[in-house]
Amino acid sequence: MVKAPLQPYKTGDFMDIREITWGDGDYARAVVLRNDVLSLPRGRTIFDFDFKTEKTQLHFAAFDGERVVGSLTLMPEDAGRCHMRQVAVDPAMRGTGIGKALVEYAESEAKRRGYTEITLDSRDGALGFYQRLGYRICGVPRKPAPDLTLTPMCRQL
Ligand SMILES: CC(C)(COP(=O)(O)OP(=O)(O)OC[C@H]1O[C@@H](n2cnc3c(N)ncnc32)[C@H](O)[C@@H]1OP(=O)(O)O)[C@@H](O)C(=O)NCCC(=O)NCCS
Repeated sequence: MVKAPLQPYKTGDFMDIREITWGDGDYARAVVLRNDVLSLPRGRTIFDFDFKTEKTQLHFAAFDGERVVGSLTLMPEDAGRCHMRQVAVDPAMRGTGIGKALVEYAESEAKRRGYTEITLDSRDGALGFYQRLGYRICGVPRKPAPDLTLTPMCRQL
């Protein structure tokens, strides 16, 4: 567990970021946040998803007390590379450094496990966020749905 320095927001200057376990209560709370942030705004639900596919993935969350206010998942791709997905921060807490702290925490955990590269597919609205964190565009954008454009990005660890 780390204490991530953040700008003051509601309850203090520090927030816990930690790895969470697939299937437990924190994971369930992170899924609700992912649904609220990533699925509902597109008129979809995450609860159609087969969550068993995430059992072998790495899950991280940011906590304000017991409350999950940020979440992301790393999916191993091969021995050296993993794919970052489902990056979500509570709308009320954005702009306080939670997204950055989560990504940097996941990167350090990926590096510790021997990964040398992280890939991701960025939504249009998040391109600047990832660029700010050192990711570069490394592929051609694709449009898996009419309301969704995804741009491949990557970063060497
Ligand atoms: C994108 C998202 C994760 C950013 O989280 P956040 O906690 O607000 O980001 P942070 O406060 O840690 O910002 C870190 C830096 O990125 C910048 N930044 C944040 N969001 C940005 C955006 N959408 N575009 C450009 N820059 C952005 C911040 O200004 C900050 O810059 P600084 O270091 O110079 O101060 C959050 O807005 C979110 O959940 N968005 C909706 C879901 C989404 O799009 N997820 C990504 C799917 S690919």
